[in-house]
Amino acid sequence: MTMMDELARIADDARARLAEAPTVDALDEVVRTTLGKKGSLKGLKRELGRLDPDERKSVGQAVNDVIDELQAAADDRRHDLERAERTERLQADRLDLTEVMAGSRAGHLHLVTQAIMELEDVFVGLGFTVAEGPEVETDHYNFGALNFPEGHPARDMYDTLYVDFGEPGHTLLRTHTSPVQVRVMETTEPPIYSVMPGRTFRQDTADATHLPVFHQIEGLVIDRGITLTDLAGTIDRFTKAYFGGAFSSRLRPSYFPFTEPSAEFDIIRPDGSFLELGGCGMVHPNVLRNCGIDPEEFSGFAFGFGIERLAVTKAGVDDLRELITNDVRFLRQF
Ligand code: PHE
Repeated sequence: MTMMDELARIADDARARLAEAPTVDALDEVVRTTLGKKGSLKGLKRELGRLDPDERKSVGQAVNDVIDELQAAADDRRHDLERAERTERLQADRLDLTEVMAGSRAGHLHLVTQAIMELEDVFVGLGFTVAEGPEVETDHYNFGALNFPEGHPARDMYDTLYVDFGEPGHTLLRTHTSPVQVRVMETTEPPIYSVMPGRTFRQDTADATHLPVFHQIEGLVIDRGITLTDLAGTIDRFTKAYFGGAFSSRLRPSYFPFTEPSAEFDIIRPDGSFLELGGCGMVHPNVLRNCGIDPEEFSGFAFGFGIERLAVTKAGVDDLRELITNDVRFLRQF
């Protein structure tokens, strides 16, 4: 057999084995035995020395061409095999949850999640967009930019949980969603009509009416010519959209450093009783200035309230702790 015949035989054999290699490991084996250091093609190359110079040149060239061709074929095959193996792995790792979902009432959204989604729906229906911000905040966003001067007693209204990071007192778990107002104002040109739902944290012991980790939703409107009437009207519209037409709302004077004037708002039930829901007010000019908005040109209002309290009231539950004990007999009811 001439060397050219031998080359053709090795090449045919290698082509067939490459095309059929069922796994990456099998492919590696074919590459090792043909193209590898001790492979058949390398062996052939070593024998070139026995040929006369003319023949050596043409056979050498042919061997190199076969090496290039097989190398390219091996690369293609490897690519295909790797993709197939990956797909297979992903299929095998997939969790099939259809049985759980079809077979039981487990696997529905938590009461609080349902409330957040309903609230977003109501506000989107009133023309608001939804924004979010970080749960770990700086003192600047949670207090400073909101017109709480350092050492101001109003900071004591919030039992703040500080994070041991950076300068002492610099990093904290946000105590309210109002820092998201600041972030939205910093990054958005008015007009702004946004609500900002999210998780908030206070150093509180859980009892029937308090949880240390809870949710709030913040509303912020900044535009030309916005007045307290717009605030009262928006809260009332929201009340009727969320609770029903027989409910109404009222404002009571209050104090927050970031709004002036400030108010608390209550929901009035059809039987005349009240639910104290949250705080609100006209955005303080200092806050607008802190966020790069000219208070001579724009004015606005903000409001914020706790979502858990709202959700349990609507659902007729009298202890907030029920929400977090994860008792399925409780959870299944909603
Ligand atoms: N952030 C305030 C709180 O948690 C509520 C609030 C929001 C008050 C917006 C006024 C305006 O106590």
